Amino acid sequence: MSDTILIIGACGQIGTELTLKLRGIFGNTTVIASDIREGNTELMESGPFEILDATNKDKIIEVIEKYHVTEVYLMAAMLSVTAEKHPQKAWDLNMNSLLHILDLAKEGLIKKVFWPSSIAVFGTTTPQNNTPQETIMEPTTVYGISKLAGERWCAYYKNKYNVDVRSIRYPGIISWKTNPGGGTTDYAVEIYHKAITDNFYNCFLAENTRLPMMYMDDAIKATIDIMQTDLPDNFFSYNIAAINFTPKEITIAIQKHLPNFKIEYSPDFRQEIADSWPQSINDVKAREDWNWKHSFDLEKMTDVMLENLKEKYNS
Ligand code: SER
Repeated sequence: MSDTILIIGACGQIGTELTLKLRGIFGNTTVIASDIREGNTELMESGPFEILDATNKDKIIEVIEKYHVTEVYLMAAMLSVTAEKHPQKAWDLNMNSLLHILDLAKEGLIKKVFWPSSIAVFGTTTPQNNTPQETIMEPTTVYGISKLAGERWCAYYKNKYNVDVRSIRYPGIISWKTNPGGGTTDYAVEIYHKAITDNFYNCFLAENTRLPMMYMDDAIKATIDIMQTDLPDNFFSYNIAAINFTPKEITIAIQKHLPNFKIEYSPDFRQEIADSWPQSINDVKAREDWNWKHSFDLEKMTDVMLENLKEKYNS
């Protein structure tokens, strides 16, 4: 029997595009989308959808049994900014959802799991430039703590119960289809929207704050690739890198298309979160182990973002 995929958190920024891509590859009815709310029309009309709370284990089991699901991509999570506002809720969502899925895999109900980690696992004591795969990890945000704990749980279930769980540490993800929500790296999406609608952006990070980032297509490719390859036993969650830039550098890239675009900087509490994260990531292990390679640089990403957002706002 062929594999059936369940995406939990399918209506979020990454979930939406991941679902559409997987449906394109494996067929619409093979990929079940689920979330606590409905998603955009393209997602809702392209295949099966279930309302699903990622912390409700009974309902997860019900959906898995209904569709004979074999693989789960657990994309539901509370991101860094929202998690600082609701620490307990963030911990409950980010941890319980993962433990439910790992338990179901341990019990043999599903065969394979994808769980996203983040650059937020690193903290102020981590080397900030070219951050290695294995290094000091003392995250200072609730989100980062939950992601680091999650990585350790994944490794535990893998080693102890032979659960096939795969993971990557996403940098900030930039896309135009579905908005991100509640992240520190979200400025790099907002800035493109505001460039088109207002010709002006008031940035919540300081001009020279460098963060690791990636265009959505590269992130989706990494996610799908890591689920298809044979991985060495000793892996944990892979660092993956593409580009890194500052608010000032992305502004310059936008101004090449929109010369009148202006930016101001009003750093707020999110600055402290950004300052605790790496500026650039060393992903040589992912490149060696499963041939990870990005293809979008800042210029190419800016072309695609502006072109698609212009069209979106015009229609
Ligand atoms: N994009 C996330 C955030 O900013 C980091 O993984 O919270």
